Amino acid sequence: MQTVEIFKFLRDDIHTVVMATVDDGGNAVTCAVDIMDCDAGGLYFLTARGKSLYARLKTRPHVSLTGIKGDSTLTRVAVSVSGCIEELGREELSTLLDKNRYMYKIYPDEASRTALAAFRLYRGKGEIFDLSKLPVVRNDFVFGGQPAAEYGYSITKECVLCGKCREVCPQNCIIFGDSGARIDGEHCLRCGNCKAVCPCGAVILKN
Ligand SMILES: Cc1cc2nc3c(=O)[nH]c(=O)nc-3n(C[C@H](O)[C@H](O)[C@H](O)COP(=O)(O)O)c2cc1C
Repeated sequence: MQTVEIFKFLRDDIHTVVMATVDDGGNAVTCAVDIMDCDAGGLYFLTARGKSLYARLKTRPHVSLTGIKGDSTLTRVAVSVSGCIEELGREELSTLLDKNRYMYKIYPDEASRTALAAFRLYRGKGEIFDLSKLPVVRNDFVFGGQPAAEYGYSITKECVLCGKCREVCPQNCIIFGDSGARIDGEHCLRCGNCKAVCPCGAVILKN
């Protein structure tokens, strides 16, 4: 899935996510937040200025969020995103409200809506992790100019093709080919079994 499709999945299929921020004591705080919109520029959400969430967002403009769709673990897909946020103006707020008209039931009149503030998560990284498929399917992504990084484990040239890693890989994602062994990162749980059993230190954790 392209990043914009993952964002649409968050907005349309998941909609309410759990968002983490950090308070003044350095503690992680989570709460439910709706993804009101998305585009190539990121994810959009609202809060009210009087909430402690708003204070946390303004003090440390960085969030992490996870949204999950599915009824039980083996039918669930999770999307996690973390990155930088910025507050937007009244015009963007009003567009978001018009696109999410249920908000007019929660904040029914103009006066009550003056408390609201719109935010955009504009640069960051994320992951989609699909447990409804086995082997699992996972993909990392970046957006808004965040430098891409490689995550998970890989096998270096130190590998002697002993096969020990294949015996302990729960998702069978270690592939032996003409050019040596490699890990199919799209199906890797990143459990670390391969690294733990490798007799020659050929398995490394990239990030
Ligand atoms: C389904 C659901 C969706 C919510 N969406 C939002 C939201 O988009 N923005 C928001 O500020 N609060 C939302 N809330 C309420 C917050 O999760 C709640 O106010 C949170 O506890 C506030 O945290 P605070 O007390 O740290 O400010 C939602 C709650 C539920 C149950």
